[in-house]
Amino acid sequence: MRKYRINGGVRLSGAVDISGAKNAVVAILPAALLADEPCRIENIPNIKDVATSLLLLESLGAKVDRINEHTVEIDPTTVNTCEVNDDLARSMRASYYFIGALLGKSGRARVPMPGGCWFGERPMDLHLKGFRALGAEVTPVEGDCIEVQSNQLMGNSIYLDTVSVGATVNIMLAAVRAMGMTIIENAAKEPHIVDLANFLNTMGADIRGAGTDVIKIRGSQYLHSAHYSIIPDQIEAGTYMAMAVATKGDVLVRNVIPKHLESITAKLIEMGAWVEEMDDAVRVRCNTPLQRCNIKTMPHPGFPTDMQPQIAVLLCLAEGVSHITEGIWENRFRYTEELNRMGAKIEVNGNSATITGVEKLSAANVTSYDLRAGAAMVIAGLAAEGVTEIDNIRYIERGYENIVQKLVRLGAEISLIDDDEE
Ligand code: UD1
Repeated sequence: MRKYRINGGVRLSGAVDISGAKNAVVAILPAALLADEPCRIENIPNIKDVATSLLLLESLGAKVDRINEHTVEIDPTTVNTCEVNDDLARSMRASYYFIGALLGKSGRARVPMPGGCWFGERPMDLHLKGFRALGAEVTPVEGDCIEVQSNQLMGNSIYLDTVSVGATVNIMLAAVRAMGMTIIENAAKEPHIVDLANFLNTMGADIRGAGTDVIKIRGSQYLHSAHYSIIPDQIEAGTYMAMAVATKGDVLVRNVIPKHLESITAKLIEMGAWVEEMDDAVRVRCNTPLQRCNIKTMPHPGFPTDMQPQIAVLLCLAEGVSHITEGIWENRFRYTEELNRMGAKIEVNGNSATITGVEKLSAANVTSYDLRAGAAMVIAGLAAEGVTEIDNIRYIERGYENIVQKLVRLGAEISLIDDDEE
C-alpha cells in the first residue's frame, strides 16, 4: 500500500509553483475533439485525471502527441468511434464531458456512467435536459451506459434549475456545433467555465457571457486549430495557502490568478492570516493565533466546496467555535472522522459542521476518502506534531501534481512510502 508519511510541526517557507487547473483541463481535453484540426494545449497538470483523459482520447482514435510534461497536441481528425471505453470512463467523474463533446462532434455518444469522488448523489438530469433541449435523444443502454444521439443539434434556450458546473460544460460542448443560438440561463460562473469558453473561442467558436449566469453560444460549422494555455489551479493554490497558514509559515504561491482566489483569501484574512496579492502570485504568512469564522460553500464566486475540507483543518486550530455549511454536496464531511482521530472536535449535523478549536492536532494514521479530503489530511499532518501516515493517496494523485516534491521544497518532511517494499 502506498502512503504519505509526514513528520509534522515544520514551518513551511519558500515558493511553490501552481500547476494548470484540473477542473479546466478535464473539460478542455474532451473539447479538443470538437476541432476540425489539431490543437496544442499547454500548462497541462501532470495528474492522474489528465493521464486518464488522454487515454480516453486515444481510445476514441484521436492522435495524442505528448510534446513535453505539460504540453500535448491532439489531432481529433482520426477519431473513429463514439463509444467511450468502460474502465477508463468509470475511473473519472469528468469522463461525462465526452458525452457533450462527442455529441457535438459526431451526433452520437455512448458513455458509461462515470466514477470519481463520492460525496452524495451526483445526478445528471440537467445535463440530459440540456442534450434533449438541443434535439438529442437520450437512451439508457445495458451495462449502466447512456447513449445520446441526434441527426442535427438545434440551438435552444435552457434554464438550469440548479447551478451546475458539469451541466454548463456539457451543454456548451454540444451547443458549439449545434445549428443556431443556444442560451444557457442560470449557468455556472467558475473560472474553468470561462477557460473552456476561451479555448473554444480560440478555435473559432462564438461563445459570449461565460463568467456570468447567461451564456450565449452560436453554433459553428467549422472549428480550426488552437494553441492554448490552461489557467492555474485555484484549488491547488488555495490548498498551499492553507498549508502555509496551518504551519505558521511564509509561502509565496506563484503562477496564480489572485482574482480567482478572492473568496479563499478573504476567509484566511478573517482568520488572522496575512495575504499579499501580486500580479500572478500571493504571499501567505501567519504568525498569530487563528480566529474562528463561519464558512458556507456556494457556486462561484462563493467559497468553493473543493476548499471546504482544507479550511476545516484551519478552523480546527482556530480559537473559538466555527460553523461550516456545505451548500453543494449532501455528504462531504466524512473526513471529519479522521480529523477527530487527530484530536479535532468536529460535530456534523446533516450538511453543517460545528468545529470547536483545539490547541493542536496529534499525529495519527488516517485515510483520504476523496481528493480534497486527502488534501485536508496532508494539511493536518503538516500541522500535527509527530508522524502521520495517510493512505488511499491515489485520490490525492488525481488532482495534485508532484505534491510531495513541492512540499519538500517548502521544507516539509514528507515522503512517499510503499509498505510492500518496506
Ligand atoms: C461540483 C462543484 C465544483 C467542484 C466539483 C467537485 C459547484 C457549483 N460545483 O461540480 O465546484 O469542483 O463539484 O467537487 O460548486 N446537480 C443536479 N443535476 C445535475 C447536475 C448537478 O441536481 O444534472 C446538482 C448536484 O447534485 C449538486 C449541484 O447541482 O448539488 C452542483 O453540481 P455540479 O456543479 O454539476 O457538480 P460538479 O460539476 O461535479
